Amino acid sequence: MQKNAHPHRDCNGKIAVVHNGIIENYQELKKELEKDDCGFKSQTDSEVIPNLISKFYKGDLKKALIKAMKRLKGSYALGVISSDEPERLLVARSDSPLIIGLGKGENFIASDVPAILKHTKKVIYLENKQLAVIKKDRVNVFDLKGKEVSPKIDTISYDVEAAKKFGFKDFMLKEIYEQPRVVSKILSQWMSLEGNIRVRDLDLNKDFLKEIEQIVIVACGTAFHAGLVGKYIFESLVRLPVWVDFASEFRYRKPIIKKNTLLIAISQSGETADTLAAVQEAKKSKIKVISVCNVLGSSLIRESDINLNTYAGPEISVASTKAYTAQLMTLYLLALYLARLKQNLNEDKLKKAISSLEKVARGQKKILARSRDIKRIARRHLHFGAFLYLGRGINFPNALEGALKLKELSYIPAEGYAAGEMKHGPIALIDEYRAVVCIANDSPVYDKMLSNIQEGLARKGKIIAIASEGNEEIKNYVKEAIFIPKIEPLFSPLFAIIPLQLLAYYIACLKGYDVDKPRNLAKSVTVE
Ligand code: F6R
Repeated sequence: MQKNAHPHRDCNGKIAVVHNGIIENYQELKKELEKDDCGFKSQTDSEVIPNLISKFYKGDLKKALIKAMKRLKGSYALGVISSDEPERLLVARSDSPLIIGLGKGENFIASDVPAILKHTKKVIYLENKQLAVIKKDRVNVFDLKGKEVSPKIDTISYDVEAAKKFGFKDFMLKEIYEQPRVVSKILSQWMSLEGNIRVRDLDLNKDFLKEIEQIVIVACGTAFHAGLVGKYIFESLVRLPVWVDFASEFRYRKPIIKKNTLLIAISQSGETADTLAAVQEAKKSKIKVISVCNVLGSSLIRESDINLNTYAGPEISVASTKAYTAQLMTLYLLALYLARLKQNLNEDKLKKAISSLEKVARGQKKILARSRDIKRIARRHLHFGAFLYLGRGINFPNALEGALKLKELSYIPAEGYAAGEMKHGPIALIDEYRAVVCIANDSPVYDKMLSNIQEGLARKGKIIAIASEGNEEIKNYVKEAIFIPKIEPLFSPLFAIIPLQLLAYYIACLKGYDVDKPRNLAKSVTVE
């Protein structure tokens, strides 16, 4: 509805505000402002903000904004202008992210770096409860007392070129194809010339890391699925108990966190409101936080004790692809580091694991080279009204991720399940109208997956199998098989995810949807 669209103005039409966030006490403020004869036009919480500023306005917008900030509860990033002071733009933040891009004779505001990257690489990350007065040739930052503070100016190291499509039809396809380069980059950042894992921030915290007894992982969406894979990785390599939570659940559940717990927060953007709130909740128990994050300077990095950069470069497409594999790669390396530190892994096993990781980029390239076959399978299945994704063990989270990619891009109902759960309900869904994607790579649970495939076939489900190269047997069962290179099963999620991303991508493209900007979704979810 147009009247709910930003900017919102005060009832005199003089002060205009754009707002990202949620004002929790807006009902109370609205009642109070209505008593002063202030009429509201929209159904938004945001409209109280220009009216509150207007109430305090006595010829100085900055003073009025500070007074309003002291009354607002909740999260906000604000852009404020007044027709009385047209040469100044004021901004303020509390919990929601806000960055100021510094140009020549021009300045910019945004929630996230990629939005301003084509204009400038110099940015100020406004701190919580700070405000700034922006003119075309000047930026002054203040605290809530109105005292000027000198902000840190960061230079973004992303290459602006990295945010271009480079001949790909869209960003998503470009980002899918970037994955081999991203995993190689991560490996090169983590490994010393002598072949040892070396990360300065981890080395500096060795004493504490040696003592950890439990790992808790919090994240949302795709990053949550990476966290679920992380559980299998850490349990297998580090032999520590791991619990993974949706950040949105963790933050409200009053979780019981023992001392010597390590919290790992995973986020591409580093600005997801629920993940940030979960970290703040965990920090009340005085535990240390490692962030696995793709955006330097983001709020999450500033909240964390140790930051592990995922080196994926800017991810522009709303659906996360390269950030996911970068998160997985980082979790493998972190697990190997901790396993070594806790003496759970001898040199031989460590070397074998590193050599498997070194094979990933080449293997991913091989899968990408078969994208035409995956496109053909997509064409044959795009009319299916529903999909089921099944996986077991470390590829169960990939089943969830494959289903998420399909539903967010193609709007086709898709569910991911642990294949062993089929008999407990979901098998009732299978008939000739359901496509069933089964991750059946070589692994200790391959035979079990094969039984699941047979159960699906018996109910006339249309099975698409993801199997390991050299598996001739699978062709006796299914018409559609996508082959991935052989690798130690622990590392197979780094291969199995690629066909799942491509399948979702091609189905959405063939249906004519905008894959980079699926409906109803935002790249950074900076509000609850
Ligand atoms: C799905 C997707 C989302 C994000 C989620 C968390 O393709 O991109 O599910 O993974 O919103 O975002 P970050 O990782 O920025 O915290």
